[in-house]
Amino acid sequence: TVVPVLLSGGVGSRLWPLSRELYPKQFMALSGEDTMLQETCRRVADLEGLSAPVAVCHEDHRFLVAEQLKRIGVEDASVLLEPAGRNTAPAVAAAALEAMSRQEDPLLLVMPADHVMEHADQFVRSVRKGMDSAARGGLVTFGVPPTAPETGYGYIRARDLGPDGGAGPVVQFVEKPDRATAEGFLRSGDYLWNSGIFLFRASRFLEELESHAPSVLEAVRAAYQGAERDLDFLRLEAQAFGTSPSNSVDYAVMEHTDAAYVVPMEAGWSDVGSWSALYEAGERDEGGNLLIGDVISHGGRNNYIRSENRLVAAVGVEDHLVVETADAVLVAPRARAQEIKGVVEELREAG
Ligand code: GDD
Ligand code: MG
Repeated sequence: TVVPVLLSGGVGSRLWPLSRELYPKQFMALSGEDTMLQETCRRVADLEGLSAPVAVCHEDHRFLVAEQLKRIGVEDASVLLEPAGRNTAPAVAAAALEAMSRQEDPLLLVMPADHVMEHADQFVRSVRKGMDSAARGGLVTFGVPPTAPETGYGYIRARDLGPDGGAGPVVQFVEKPDRATAEGFLRSGDYLWNSGIFLFRASRFLEELESHAPSVLEAVRAAYQGAERDLDFLRLEAQAFGTSPSNSVDYAVMEHTDAAYVVPMEAGWSDVGSWSALYEAGERDEGGNLLIGDVISHGGRNNYIRSENRLVAAVGVEDHLVVETADAVLVAPRARAQEIKGVVEELREAG
């Protein structure tokens, strides 16, 4: 069986000021009617052998998750609550323990709840191609052909990809390289982007964590054992969970394991992680502008301008992001979209 693991713990800080701590982007409908969490759940509905999902989220978002899943008819999900996010490695470890308590060593399909996929059927096809390797103990990732030297992604070099686009062993996994390295990877044509979606046996992930990041596993085991279960939620024990280092699956496991495999995926994937990514993914006018809401742009080019409440007018603006919300306005060059999380950090420090 396959257990979908829905990672919904991010705060989407690069999409500030639209995405907020109390209401991050995975709970919003950015395209269509369903929220990103609901879309993530629905997109695998055709997969064989599916069992109830495990969602992992921050304590503050428990009602959003529970309600959004119920709305799409998912009544039997396990919802694991983190007292504070410690990044994806502990989140997935907790999901693995929960999945193993329900079934004997199922496959976990780990999906960030904030990605867009144009072709769900292609995605499901790629997942099927990864099943064999995962069942035999591989840690399978899904690789996207890169189109830009993004520094916010992991890069994967593979060999011997099956002729039918099946899983091939990973030779090298580099998480978030610097700009020059990313440019080299792109030029070589030998690398794929890591989509951040994973398929592996629950037990295999825990074993790898044990060898490469034992302190994460130890903390999460204790937090899971001490967890409080009520009707709808499983609350990880705060003190133990807090002792886990903050670490991602990518840094903790994927960069170190010898058992990584990658399946190429062409499903119109995008991580709408930043305003520049939303700009790239969206439909622009002849001037290269993407204007949303009540916006007037005169003689401007290549801008992303979004208004939620008020009329926004721009004259002669080029290559910029402007995002207006009820209580905050963002203005930034498009090329510096990754730095917006710095604003959120500053706000957090200021309390
Ligand atoms: N439950 C939970 N708890 N979820 C979390 C936590 C946490 O503490 N931290 C992050 N997540 C969720 C995020 O909401 C997101 O859906 C997913 O896990 C990945 O986290 P990001 O913070 O968005 O990671 P990233 O974008 O920097 O990098 C990852 O994704 C890239 C592709 O989008 C890596 O896997 C990269 O290698 C990859 O290229
Ligand atoms: Mg991301």
